[in-house]
Amino acid sequence: MFIGVDLGGTKIAAALVSETGKIITDVNIPTEASKGKKHVLGVISKAIDHLLRTSAKPVKAIGLGVPGPILYEKGVVIGPPNLPGWKQVNLKQVLGKKFKLPVYVDNDANCAALAEARFGAGIGRKHFIYITVSTGIGGGIIINGELYRGANGSAGEFGHMIIDSHGFTCGCGNVGCLEALASGTAIKKRAGMDGASVELAARQGDKKALAVIDETAHYLAVGIANLVNIFNPELVIIGGGVSKMRELLLTPVRAEFKKYALYLPAKSVKIVRAKLGTNAGILGAAALCL
Ligand code: BGC
Repeated sequence: MFIGVDLGGTKIAAALVSETGKIITDVNIPTEASKGKKHVLGVISKAIDHLLRTSAKPVKAIGLGVPGPILYEKGVVIGPPNLPGWKQVNLKQVLGKKFKLPVYVDNDANCAALAEARFGAGIGRKHFIYITVSTGIGGGIIINGELYRGANGSAGEFGHMIIDSHGFTCGCGNVGCLEALASGTAIKKRAGMDGASVELAARQGDKKALAVIDETAHYLAVGIANLVNIFNPELVIIGGGVSKMRELLLTPVRAEFKKYALYLPAKSVKIVRAKLGTNAGILGAAALCL
């Protein structure tokens, strides 16, 4: 048995996961990121503690998917835009000491990409990119069946790709990042309500909500076209909370994507929704332990 923790800017999801990727028990708690590092670490510890106490079988290790950038080898989180006050946190060390178990830490989107590769939409695919659209935007790159982590573990920060250098300011301090234009946070800023409410309003024909979705789809498509031109993947898998809009978002994304991607890489790629939904993060975090 393993514990997988998906630390998001809005919620923390944690679960007991079996070796075959089955979720046995899970918990969902608001992150309340604005309350700072100590509070969030406390919430994570409580969730792990609860799962350890409820597990019928011994837990062998803890895996965590966290917003990056992170130093993968050391398990150190370095100033994620959506976790204020997290300048440099050695999660591997802090939680390893506390729970006396091996702890593995990777970027949340890398974890989700691993989970989709192992248990979801990416099964049997050698080249794909995973993009999570949630509070922030993150990415995972699978090349030749392996996750590509880059020189120090921070590869795949798709959300901080500059799409419009005259655009909105991003949580990372830069201007015009994809995350500042098309994340759940960006939707909230533009529409004055969260993604779920925008979806509901759009389904009832609300013009403003539909316009916000179209704009989000446009920017996502521009980002995806850049990525497809660079990586020539077979598949682009879209996950994260915002992807719960399903075809309401994906259909305009595909239409916009065609306008911007090069003919050859666009010809061979499919844009699909993540199969594991919002469980991808937890499953991927647990898969880090395997
Ligand atoms: C972070 C990424 C993360 C994404 C989703 C972004 O702000 O830079 O590392 O994957 O949010 O949580």
